[in-house]
Amino acid sequence: MQQRTFPDHAALSHHTADYIADLVRQKPDAVLCLASGDTPSETFRILAAMVQAGQLDLSQCRFIGLDEWVGFGPTDEGSCGYLVYRDLFTPASIRPEQITYFDAKAADLQAECARVDAAIADFGKLDLLLVGIGMNGHIALNEPGTPFTLRCHVVQLAQSTIDVGQKYFTKPTPLSQGITLGLQHLTEARDVVLMASGARKAAIVHEALHGPITEQLPASIMQTVEQGKVFDSKI
Ligand code: PGA
Repeated sequence: MQQRTFPDHAALSHHTADYIADLVRQKPDAVLCLASGDTPSETFRILAAMVQAGQLDLSQCRFIGLDEWVGFGPTDEGSCGYLVYRDLFTPASIRPEQITYFDAKAADLQAECARVDAAIADFGKLDLLLVGIGMNGHIALNEPGTPFTLRCHVVQLAQSTIDVGQKYFTKPTPLSQGITLGLQHLTEARDVVLMASGARKAAIVHEALHGPITEQLPASIMQTVEQGKVFDSKI
C-alpha cells in the first residue's frame, strides 16, 4: 500500500482525477467502481470537465455503483446514486447501459446483491475501486464488525453512519439499512484508491493505516491490499 498526502482537497481531487484519466487512457474499456460522498465529488466534476473538453473519453468504460441507502434511488436527492449522476454520469454523458447500480428499492435485496456480484464476476475484475472512509472507519457501507470476506450484502447501518449521512439530505431522513459491495471485492480489484480529506478524518485514517488490522475498523484492510493507494489531504 502506498500513501500520498496532498496540501488540500483541490490538489487531492486533481491528482485523483488525473490518476483515473490515465488509467482510462491506458484501458479505454476499464471497469470502474466509484464511491459516492462529499470526498470524490470534485474529482468527478474534474473528470466530467475533461470529457466535455474532449480530453477524455469515458464512452467505453463500465461503471459500478459502490453502495446505496436501502429505499433510495438515483433520482432521490441525497442518495449515493444521485451524487454520482449529478457530478459525473450526467455531465459526462455516460449511457445507461454503461452503468450497473444497486436498485436499493428492490423488493428482493438479496437478489440485487446476487445481480451485482454476477455483473462484477462477468467483468472479470474491477480495474479500479475508488472508495472513501467513514468517520467510524467504514469503507463503502461495510460497517465495523463486517467480515473482510463478504461480497455484496445488505447491512444494518451504524448510528454514526446514520447521523453523518444526514449531511447529504436537505431534511432529516430516516436511514436504517444499506446495500454495498463487500471488502472481498476490494482485495480482488486490480487497483484500489482510498480518498480521505479534512482534519476530521485524519485520526481515523491514521488508525486504519497504522493500527491493528481488524474487522472492527474496516479500512484497516488497506494495510493488506498490496495494490492499494491512499490519497489524502489534511484540509
Ligand atoms: P464523505 O463520505 O466522502 O461524504 O466523507 C465518506 C464515507 O462515508 O465513505
